[in-house]
Amino acid sequence: SYNGLAKTPPMGWNSWNLFAGKIDDQTVRAIADAMVSSGMRDAGYIYVNIDDTWEGVRDANGNLQPNHKFPDMKALADYVHSKGLKLGIYSSPGPRTCAGYPGSYGHEEQDAKTFASWGIDYLKYDWCSAGMIYKDEQMQPVYQKMGAALQSTGRPIVFSLCQYGLDAVEKWGGQVGGNLWRTTGDIRDEWSSMIGNVEKQVPTAPYAGPGHWNDPDMLEIGNGHMSDDEYRTHMSLWALTAAPLLAGNDVRSMTAATKAILLNKEVIAVDQDPLGRQASPVKNGDLELWTKPLADGGVAVGEVNYSASAMKATINAGDLHLKGPVRKARDLWSHKDVKFTKGSYSAMVPPHGVLMLKVSAK
Ligand code: GLA
Repeated sequence: SYNGLAKTPPMGWNSWNLFAGKIDDQTVRAIADAMVSSGMRDAGYIYVNIDDTWEGVRDANGNLQPNHKFPDMKALADYVHSKGLKLGIYSSPGPRTCAGYPGSYGHEEQDAKTFASWGIDYLKYDWCSAGMIYKDEQMQPVYQKMGAALQSTGRPIVFSLCQYGLDAVEKWGGQVGGNLWRTTGDIRDEWSSMIGNVEKQVPTAPYAGPGHWNDPDMLEIGNGHMSDDEYRTHMSLWALTAAPLLAGNDVRSMTAATKAILLNKEVIAVDQDPLGRQASPVKNGDLELWTKPLADGGVAVGEVNYSASAMKATINAGDLHLKGPVRKARDLWSHKDVKFTKGSYSAMVPPHGVLMLKVSAK
């Protein structure tokens, strides 16, 4: 990307997964408050992103207005900024968004200017009805148009492309100014959807790096339909694959387990590693090993148990391509150092759970 943003995968919160259309000014303010009081902001979750359903009508000059749920977007941005957070918003290159609200078609530069004037810091730009106007092959210039429009506002605005993995977006998303791009359809709060998304983007790994990330969609952690073991796997896989960490739950009322997952600093550090590598997996029966080289020469590794029963996972130092024998190994979920014996480490992993380590060489 050419805007110099998102050197590490974006972190924050987005309204869609839990609130969908039930999002408004008051709720966004309350979420912003909770991002601070829960420790989410200080853990790095900086962006508070309004997804679809905020859009109203255009005024006589064609300026897009928010609807009744958002009486004053600039005042909301000021409030969010006063909390040390950033505000994100959503639009479509088509005439309508996915939920049927006005999109930016024919008003791209005007909308970019409007967003910048409100103090918006992040735009998710969702293909939706653009498919009725353009052919898939036109995606690149269509996204380029908004990328350039954002750039010319002079305001730093993270640009998130959302087009469900069509048209090999990973090959050109960075060139059109994109900082991240969806590689999959919409995530649902269930194991098969979460795993399906992260598996689907495996071939995109070479295209991830500082400033430009593959996006297997937002987090479902804490939304209630997966087990905490499954949510730990969700968080681990997003971190290992350098995915954006956009929480999608109600951060005003998190269980202790949800908090411990989203606020796990050692796992967040894997996601935010400056080298920016996206882990790739090797499958071995019901176990799958994901390895991610880190900037300090260490390796983050996650072994995921796909089966419905507990399994013994073994991590072999020989599979980690370290530059020497293991000096230090740490379990990033138990927060304890562990010992490799004869070049390997084993532990029991619950159904759909994960063993996640950081391993460093001498
Ligand atoms: C699409 C996107 C979702 C969400 C909705 C909003 O389905 O993939 O992430 O933004 O649109 O309508």
